[in-house]
Amino acid sequence: MCGALSIIFVAVLYSQTQAEIGREVAIPRHLQDGEEFDVSVSDLIRYGKKLFEAHFTSQEGAGRPLAKGTGAPLADPNSALIFPRNNNRISGPESNSCAGCHNQPIAGGAGDLVFVLGQRFDFATFDANDIVPTRGAVDELGRVVTLQSIANSRATPDLFGSGYYEMLARQITADLQVVRDSLRPGGHAQLRSKGISFGVLARNLDGYWNVSSVEGLSPESIASEDSEHPPSLLILPLSQGGAVASLRVFTVNAFHQHHGMQATERFGIGTDPDGDGVVDELTRADITACTLFQATLPVPSRIVPDSPVAQRAVRDGERLLTRSAAQAATFPRCRSTGKDGSTRSRTRITRVAISRSARPLRSRSI
Ligand code: HEC
Repeated sequence: MCGALSIIFVAVLYSQTQAEIGREVAIPRHLQDGEEFDVSVSDLIRYGKKLFEAHFTSQEGAGRPLAKGTGAPLADPNSALIFPRNNNRISGPESNSCAGCHNQPIAGGAGDLVFVLGQRFDFATFDANDIVPTRGAVDELGRVVTLQSIANSRATPDLFGSGYYEMLARQITADLQVVRDSLRPGGHAQLRSKGISFGVLARNLDGYWNVSSVEGLSPESIASEDSEHPPSLLILPLSQGGAVASLRVFTVNAFHQHHGMQATERFGIGTDPDGDGVVDELTRADITACTLFQATLPVPSRIVPDSPVAQRAVRDGERLLTRSAAQAATFPRCRSTGKDGSTRSRTRITRVAISRSARPLRSRSI
């Protein structure tokens, strides 16, 4: 069964050019839910790469006429994001392929500086006459925004080794949850995993969770409704602010924000929340494949030159990096100020620490 389906699937993958005059889509046949369990892992990764590199068109759902990049409805549904408002470098959608940004030196790699966080606006215009919050020129509190304050200009990071990155975060979360689950009312314990301290978690005598001495976790990870609902202690390893739990969640969000392609697992089956007339734009199987492609991108390794001078410089560099990684483990928190003025304290696990624990660095002579 698996073999037969694999053959059919590969045939579909490579024969997606059956001409239908006037129809132009990047993915003529999507993998359907359930089929991801029947194709081989390597075919699934190949298909995931195809999705990552696909140039989606409006015929298959690209664009989001009635939705912001956050997923919320437009502030002004009467000004839909249809041509010429269907593309905006600041508020998005701004590209039709993940690899349009993540492409150096291959798909999944790094890329240019782009804007993020502008997607909470319908369509950035900076129009002085526009007073509708988050439509195009003023923020949630009615303050006029500028190019400097509307969004954040960030470099597109590479995704090499990101599977290890996520796995490390999952392992740390699991370690912290074991400590949490052993706590009885009145007790307290050090939250520590892989040499990183996250402070002390305590329970009051009435069973309520006391997180006042927990450090480096995001507010949502230490939130607890009552004694029956302990804090999740989730490590959120992705995005510059450490705000996203997994490659899968990031992928679903990015497809919507950058390309206006909605995944059924977030927006529902048979629904059209962005009002473009296309339903079920990305299946659960699609998201699994695209996530797997990213998670299995290789960790970069090192090539050490033969020259003794260069080798000494490499050794010095490695010592310096080890020292800063150790410091990062001792002082893992960075503070940021939220829109509402609250300060957030986050742990950033450095990529250095991860690539070192995922696999020893190899040296090779050239
Ligand atoms: C317009 C350029 C652009 C496009 C298109 C784009 N990305 Fe990104 N991507 C970025 C930037 C910039 C960041 C860094 C965001 C941050 O730090 O908050 C990022 C971050 C990420 C991350 C988190 C990496 C980390 O280490 O924190 C993942 C995963 C990711 N992108 C996947 C995707 C996928 C999947 C797609 C397609 C559905 C996609 N991106 C499309 C620019 C882009």
